[in-house]
Amino acid sequence: MNTGPSRTTLRSIKHFLNTYDWSRPDLQAMLDEARAFKVSPYGSALEGKTIALLFLNNSLRTRTSFDIGANQLGGHAVVLSPSGGMWPLEFQKGAVMLGDAEEHVQEAAKVLSRYCDLIGIRAFPRFEDWQEDRKDRLMGSLAEHSDVPVINMETITHPCQEMALAMTLQEQMGQLDGKKFLLTWSYHPRPLNTAVANSALMIAAKFGMDVTLLCPTPDFVLDERYLDIAHKDASANGAEVTVSHDIEEAYSGADVVYAKSWGALPFFGNWKAEKPVRDAFQHFIVDDKKMAMTNDALVSHCLPMRRNVIMSDTVFDGPRCVAYDEAENRLHVQKAIMTELLRQS
Ligand code: CP
Repeated sequence: MNTGPSRTTLRSIKHFLNTYDWSRPDLQAMLDEARAFKVSPYGSALEGKTIALLFLNNSLRTRTSFDIGANQLGGHAVVLSPSGGMWPLEFQKGAVMLGDAEEHVQEAAKVLSRYCDLIGIRAFPRFEDWQEDRKDRLMGSLAEHSDVPVINMETITHPCQEMALAMTLQEQMGQLDGKKFLLTWSYHPRPLNTAVANSALMIAAKFGMDVTLLCPTPDFVLDERYLDIAHKDASANGAEVTVSHDIEEAYSGADVVYAKSWGALPFFGNWKAEKPVRDAFQHFIVDDKKMAMTNDALVSHCLPMRRNVIMSDTVFDGPRCVAYDEAENRLHVQKAIMTELLRQS
Protein backbone atom coordinates (compact mmCIF):
# COMPACT_ATOMS: atom_id res chain seq x y z
CA MET A 1 0.00 0.00 0.00
CA ASN A 2 1.33 3.43 -0.90
CA THR A 3 0.88 5.52 2.23
CA GLY A 4 2.63 8.46 0.56
CA PRO A 5 5.64 10.34 1.75
CA SER A 6 5.65 11.33 5.40
CA ARG A 7 5.48 15.04 6.16
CA THR A 8 9.00 16.26 6.45
CA THR A 9 8.45 19.88 7.41
CA LEU A 10 7.62 19.70 11.08
CA ARG A 11 7.25 22.27 13.89
CA SER A 12 7.93 24.96 11.28
CA ILE A 13 11.60 23.92 11.07
CA LYS A 14 12.63 23.61 7.44
CA HIS A 15 14.55 20.38 6.95
CA PHE A 16 16.26 19.05 3.83
CA LEU A 17 14.93 15.50 3.87
CA ASN A 18 13.66 15.13 0.33
CA THR A 19 13.64 17.31 -2.76
CA TYR A 20 9.89 16.72 -3.14
CA ASP A 21 9.41 19.04 -0.13
CA TRP A 22 11.03 21.86 -2.11
CA SER A 23 9.79 23.69 -5.19
CA ARG A 24 11.79 23.70 -8.41
CA PRO A 25 12.57 27.46 -8.05
CA ASP A 26 13.78 26.91 -4.46
CA LEU A 27 16.03 24.03 -5.58
CA GLN A 28 17.26 26.14 -8.49
CA ALA A 29 18.14 28.99 -6.11
CA MET A 30 20.30 26.56 -4.11
CA LEU A 31 21.91 25.27 -7.31
CA ASP A 32 22.71 28.86 -8.29
CA GLU A 33 24.25 29.47 -4.87
CA ALA A 34 26.24 26.23 -5.24
CA ARG A 35 27.66 27.54 -8.54
CA ALA A 36 28.74 30.70 -6.74
CA PHE A 37 30.46 28.57 -4.04
CA LYS A 38 32.30 26.68 -6.77
CA VAL A 39 33.82 29.96 -7.97
CA SER A 40 34.35 31.42 -4.50
CA PRO A 41 34.56 28.58 -1.93
CA TYR A 42 35.03 30.44 1.35
CA GLY A 43 32.43 32.34 3.38
CA SER A 44 31.05 32.97 6.84
CA ALA A 45 27.51 31.54 6.66
CA LEU A 46 28.41 28.88 9.27
CA GLU A 47 30.61 31.14 11.43
CA GLY A 48 30.34 29.84 15.00
CA LYS A 49 27.93 27.08 13.90
CA THR A 50 28.21 23.32 14.31
CA ILE A 51 26.77 20.47 12.28
CA ALA A 52 26.51 16.95 13.76
CA LEU A 53 26.95 14.27 11.10
CA LEU A 54 25.38 10.96 12.16
CA PHE A 55 26.71 8.12 10.02
CA LEU A 56 25.06 4.77 10.61
CA ASN A 57 26.67 3.52 7.37
CA ASN A 58 29.97 3.93 5.58
CA SER A 59 30.88 6.94 3.45
CA LEU A 60 33.77 8.54 1.62
CA ARG A 61 32.25 11.47 -0.29
CA THR A 62 29.43 12.54 2.02
CA ARG A 63 31.50 12.57 5.17
CA THR A 64 34.45 14.38 3.61
CA SER A 65 32.42 16.94 1.67
CA PHE A 66 30.16 17.91 4.60
CA ASP A 67 33.12 18.26 6.97
CA ILE A 68 35.17 20.33 4.52
CA GLY A 69 32.12 22.33 3.41
CA ALA A 70 31.26 23.34 6.98
CA ASN A 71 34.89 24.36 7.56
CA GLN A 72 35.03 26.45 4.39
CA LEU A 73 32.03 28.44 5.65
CA GLY A 74 33.55 29.04 9.09
CA GLY A 75 31.69 26.21 10.84
CA HIS A 76 32.61 22.99 12.58
CA ALA A 77 31.48 19.39 11.93
CA VAL A 78 31.24 16.61 14.52
CA VAL A 79 31.12 13.12 13.03
CA LEU A 80 29.25 10.49 15.06
CA SER A 81 28.88 6.81 14.19
CA PRO A 82 28.15 3.61 16.14
CA SER A 83 31.49 2.17 15.01
CA GLY A 84 33.17 5.35 16.28
CA GLY A 85 31.67 5.08 19.75
CA MET A 86 28.15 6.51 19.44
CA TRP A 87 25.47 4.61 21.37
CA PRO A 88 23.35 2.37 19.13
CA LEU A 89 20.03 4.14 18.51
CA GLU A 90 16.42 2.92 18.85
CA PHE A 91 13.86 4.73 16.72
CA GLN A 92 10.55 2.86 17.12
CA LYS A 93 7.95 4.88 19.04
CA GLY A 94 7.01 3.15 22.29
CA ALA A 95 9.80 0.55 21.97
CA VAL A 96 10.57 -1.58 25.02
CA MET A 97 14.32 -1.15 24.75
CA LEU A 98 15.54 -4.64 25.59
CA GLY A 99 17.62 -4.99 22.37
CA ASP A 100 21.06 -3.61 21.45
CA ALA A 101 20.05 0.08 21.38
CA GLU A 102 21.10 2.09 24.44
CA GLU A 103 19.57 5.43 23.43
CA HIS A 104 16.36 6.48 21.73
CA VAL A 105 16.67 8.86 18.78
CA GLN A 106 14.19 11.12 20.60
CA GLU A 107 16.78 11.94 23.29
CA ALA A 108 19.65 12.01 20.78
CA ALA A 109 17.77 14.60 18.68
CA LYS A 110 16.99 16.80 21.68
CA VAL A 111 20.52 16.67 23.08
CA LEU A 112 22.21 17.31 19.72
CA SER A 113 19.82 20.24 19.18
CA ARG A 114 21.23 21.79 22.36
CA TYR A 115 24.80 21.56 20.99
CA CYS A 116 24.40 21.94 17.22
CA ASP A 117 22.79 24.15 14.62
CA LEU A 118 22.28 21.44 11.98
CA ILE A 119 22.13 17.63 12.03
CA GLY A 120 22.90 15.32 9.08
CA ILE A 121 21.79 11.69 9.10
CA ARG A 122 22.82 8.68 7.00
CA ALA A 123 20.73 5.60 7.79
CA PHE A 124 20.32 2.95 5.09
CA PRO A 125 17.39 0.54 5.12
CA ARG A 126 17.75 -2.68 7.08
CA PHE A 127 17.04 -4.67 3.89
CA GLU A 128 14.67 -7.03 5.69
CA ASP A 129 11.19 -5.66 4.96
CA TRP A 130 10.66 -2.93 2.40
CA GLN A 131 7.22 -2.04 3.78
CA GLU A 132 8.97 -1.17 7.04
CA ASP A 133 12.10 0.38 5.48
CA ARG A 134 10.05 2.66 3.21
CA LYS A 135 8.71 4.47 6.29
CA ASP A 136 12.20 5.93 6.82
CA ARG A 137 11.43 5.97 10.55
CA LEU A 138 14.85 6.90 11.92
CA MET A 139 15.14 10.05 9.81
CA GLY A 140 11.47 10.93 10.39
CA SER A 141 11.85 10.50 14.13
CA LEU A 142 15.07 12.53 14.22
CA ALA A 143 13.41 15.38 12.31
CA GLU A 144 10.31 15.20 14.49
CA HIS A 145 12.29 15.56 17.73
CA SER A 146 15.07 17.85 16.53
CA ASP A 147 14.90 21.57 17.28
CA VAL A 148 17.35 22.32 14.45
CA PRO A 149 17.21 21.54 10.70
CA VAL A 150 17.99 17.96 9.66
CA ILE A 151 19.68 17.00 6.38
CA ASN A 152 19.19 13.61 4.72
CA MET A 153 22.69 12.32 3.89
CA GLU A 154 21.11 9.14 2.38
CA THR A 155 18.38 6.98 3.79
CA ILE A 156 15.89 5.63 1.22
CA THR A 157 16.54 8.70 -0.93
CA HIS A 158 19.72 10.73 -1.42
CA PRO A 159 18.67 14.35 -2.04
CA CYS A 160 22.20 15.80 -1.74
CA GLN A 161 23.27 13.47 -4.56
CA GLU A 162 20.27 14.64 -6.57
CA MET A 163 21.37 18.23 -6.24
CA ALA A 164 24.93 17.38 -7.30
CA LEU A 165 23.59 15.51 -10.32
CA ALA A 166 21.32 18.42 -11.33
CA MET A 167 24.18 20.90 -10.94
CA THR A 168 26.50 18.75 -13.04
CA LEU A 169 23.97 18.29 -15.84
CA GLN A 170 23.16 22.02 -15.88
CA GLU A 171 26.88 22.81 -16.12
CA GLN A 172 27.16 20.54 -19.15
CA MET A 173 23.85 21.13 -20.92
CA GLY A 174 22.27 24.32 -19.56
CA GLN A 175 18.48 23.91 -19.53
CA LEU A 176 17.53 20.31 -18.86
CA ASP A 177 13.91 20.47 -20.07
CA GLY A 178 13.20 18.00 -22.85
CA LYS A 179 16.53 16.18 -22.58
CA LYS A 180 16.37 12.38 -22.51
CA PHE A 181 17.54 10.96 -19.19
CA LEU A 182 18.13 7.24 -18.95
CA LEU A 183 18.33 5.75 -15.45
CA THR A 184 19.66 2.25 -15.97
CA TRP A 185 19.86 -0.57 -13.45
CA SER A 186 23.28 -2.14 -13.69
CA TYR A 187 24.62 -5.37 -12.26
CA HIS A 188 26.25 -5.61 -8.83
CA PRO A 189 26.93 -8.89 -7.02
CA ARG A 190 24.99 -7.69 -3.96
CA PRO A 191 21.58 -6.02 -3.62
CA LEU A 192 22.05 -2.30 -2.94
CA ASN A 193 19.91 0.53 -1.61
CA THR A 194 17.36 2.02 -4.02
CA ALA A 195 17.99 5.53 -2.62
CA VAL A 196 20.12 6.98 -5.42
CA ALA A 197 17.87 5.47 -8.09
CA ASN A 198 14.74 6.91 -6.43
CA SER A 199 16.48 10.25 -6.25
CA ALA A 200 17.82 10.28 -9.81
CA LEU A 201 14.34 9.50 -11.08
CA MET A 202 12.78 12.37 -9.12
CA ILE A 203 15.34 15.08 -9.82
CA ALA A 204 15.40 14.38 -13.56
CA ALA A 205 11.60 14.70 -13.70
CA LYS A 206 11.62 17.78 -11.44
CA PHE A 207 13.89 19.56 -13.93
CA GLY A 208 11.78 18.63 -16.94
CA MET A 209 13.72 15.75 -18.45
CA ASP A 210 12.06 12.85 -20.28
CA VAL A 211 12.97 9.96 -18.02
CA THR A 212 13.35 6.30 -18.93
CA LEU A 213 13.79 3.81 -16.10
CA LEU A 214 15.52 0.74 -17.57
CA CYS A 215 15.62 -2.41 -15.43
CA PRO A 216 15.73 -6.13 -16.22
CA THR A 217 12.20 -7.14 -15.12
CA PRO A 218 9.17 -5.68 -13.30
CA ASP A 219 10.71 -6.97 -10.03
CA PHE A 220 13.38 -4.27 -10.33
CA VAL A 221 10.97 -1.36 -10.84
CA LEU A 222 11.32 1.27 -8.11
CA ASP A 223 8.76 2.03 -5.40
CA GLU A 224 5.51 3.49 -6.73
CA ARG A 225 5.87 6.45 -4.33
CA TYR A 226 8.88 7.76 -6.25
CA LEU A 227 7.48 6.83 -9.64
CA ASP A 228 4.27 8.72 -8.80
CA ILE A 229 6.23 11.82 -7.75
CA ALA A 230 8.33 11.61 -10.91
CA HIS A 231 5.23 11.15 -13.09
CA LYS A 232 3.55 14.20 -11.53
CA ASP A 233 6.63 16.42 -11.86
CA ALA A 234 7.32 15.25 -15.40
CA SER A 235 3.73 15.90 -16.39
CA ALA A 236 3.83 19.40 -14.85
CA ASN A 237 6.90 20.06 -17.00
CA GLY A 238 5.41 18.59 -20.20
CA ALA A 239 7.73 15.58 -19.95
CA GLU A 240 7.26 11.83 -19.48
CA VAL A 241 8.47 8.95 -17.33
CA THR A 242 8.66 5.56 -19.04
CA VAL A 243 9.63 2.15 -17.67
CA SER A 244 11.46 -0.15 -20.08
CA HIS A 245 13.02 -3.60 -19.97
CA ASP A 246 14.47 -3.27 -23.49
CA ILE A 247 18.12 -2.16 -23.51
CA GLU A 248 18.25 -1.03 -27.15
CA GLU A 249 15.01 0.93 -26.99
CA ALA A 250 16.00 2.61 -23.72
CA TYR A 251 19.53 3.67 -24.76
CA SER A 252 18.44 4.90 -28.17
CA GLY A 253 18.80 8.71 -28.38
CA ALA A 254 19.54 9.21 -24.66
CA ASP A 255 21.28 12.49 -23.71
CA VAL A 256 22.26 11.27 -20.24
CA VAL A 257 22.94 7.75 -18.97
CA TYR A 258 22.87 7.40 -15.20
CA ALA A 259 23.91 3.99 -13.90
CA LYS A 260 23.01 2.45 -10.55
CA SER A 261 22.40 -0.98 -9.14
CA TRP A 262 19.72 -1.78 -6.60
CA GLY A 263 17.96 -4.70 -4.97
CA ALA A 264 14.60 -5.96 -6.27
CA LEU A 265 11.90 -4.77 -3.87
CA PRO A 266 9.78 -7.98 -3.90
CA PHE A 267 12.85 -9.90 -2.66
CA PHE A 268 13.55 -7.69 0.37
CA GLY A 269 14.48 -10.07 3.20
CA ASN A 270 14.76 -12.98 0.77
CA TRP A 271 18.05 -12.11 -0.92
CA LYS A 272 19.16 -15.72 -1.49
CA ALA A 273 16.27 -16.09 -3.91
CA GLU A 274 17.11 -12.77 -5.60
CA LYS A 275 20.76 -13.72 -6.26
CA PRO A 276 20.22 -16.06 -9.26
CA VAL A 277 17.70 -13.59 -10.69
CA ARG A 278 20.17 -10.67 -10.60
CA ASP A 279 23.09 -12.82 -11.72
CA ALA A 280 21.25 -13.42 -15.01
CA PHE A 281 21.53 -9.71 -15.87
CA GLN A 282 25.26 -9.02 -15.79
CA HIS A 283 24.93 -7.85 -19.40
CA PHE A 284 23.25 -4.64 -18.14
CA ILE A 285 26.78 -3.22 -17.66
CA VAL A 286 27.17 0.26 -19.21
CA ASP A 287 29.69 -0.30 -22.02
CA ASP A 288 30.79 1.25 -25.32
CA LYS A 289 28.33 -0.77 -27.38
CA LYS A 290 25.37 0.56 -25.43
CA MET A 291 26.74 4.12 -25.30
CA ALA A 292 27.03 4.05 -29.12
CA MET A 293 23.21 3.89 -29.29
CA THR A 294 22.85 7.20 -27.42
CA ASN A 295 22.91 10.81 -28.55
CA ASP A 296 26.60 11.06 -27.51
CA ALA A 297 25.26 10.94 -23.96
CA LEU A 298 26.88 12.18 -20.80
CA VAL A 299 27.30 9.33 -18.35
CA SER A 300 27.59 9.31 -14.58
CA HIS A 301 27.37 7.33 -11.37
CA CYS A 302 27.10 8.50 -7.76
CA LEU A 303 30.14 6.42 -6.64
CA PRO A 304 31.37 4.19 -5.12
CA MET A 305 31.22 2.03 -8.26
CA ARG A 306 32.54 -1.41 -9.15
CA ARG A 307 34.54 -0.95 -12.35
CA ASN A 308 33.84 -3.34 -15.22
CA VAL A 309 30.75 -4.59 -13.40
CA ILE A 310 28.49 -1.53 -13.27
CA MET A 311 30.34 0.34 -16.03
CA SER A 312 33.33 -0.51 -18.25
CA ASP A 313 36.65 1.28 -17.73
CA THR A 314 36.42 2.67 -21.25
CA VAL A 315 33.11 4.40 -20.52
CA PHE A 316 34.00 5.57 -17.00
CA ASP A 317 37.41 6.91 -18.05
CA GLY A 318 36.03 8.29 -21.32
CA PRO A 319 35.38 11.92 -22.26
CA ARG A 320 31.63 11.87 -21.65
CA CYS A 321 31.80 10.68 -18.04
CA VAL A 322 31.01 13.41 -15.49
CA ALA A 323 31.11 11.31 -12.31
CA TYR A 324 34.05 13.25 -10.83
CA ASP A 325 32.26 16.55 -11.48
CA GLU A 326 29.18 15.15 -9.76
CA ALA A 327 31.28 14.03 -6.79
CA GLU A 328 32.94 17.46 -6.56
CA ASN A 329 29.59 19.20 -6.79
CA ARG A 330 28.43 17.42 -3.64
CA LEU A 331 30.67 19.87 -1.76
CA HIS A 332 29.17 22.94 -3.43
CA VAL A 333 25.50 21.95 -3.22
CA GLN A 334 25.77 20.90 0.42
CA LYS A 335 27.24 24.29 1.31
CA ALA A 336 24.26 25.90 -0.40
CA ILE A 337 21.86 23.59 1.47
CA MET A 338 23.46 24.29 4.88
CA THR A 339 23.44 28.03 4.16
CA GLU A 340 19.79 28.01 3.12
CA LEU A 341 18.66 25.98 6.16
CA LEU A 342 20.45 28.31 8.56
CA ARG A 343 18.97 31.29 6.75
CA GLN A 344 15.48 29.85 7.29
CA SER A 345 15.96 28.68 10.91
N1 CP B 1 27.78 9.02 -3.32
C1 CP B 1 27.97 8.97 -1.98
O1 CP B 1 27.09 9.31 -1.18
O2 CP B 1 29.21 8.55 -1.62
P1 CP B 1 29.58 8.01 -0.16
O3 CP B 1 28.71 6.80 0.09
O4 CP B 1 31.04 7.65 -0.24
O5 CP B 1 29.32 9.08 0.83
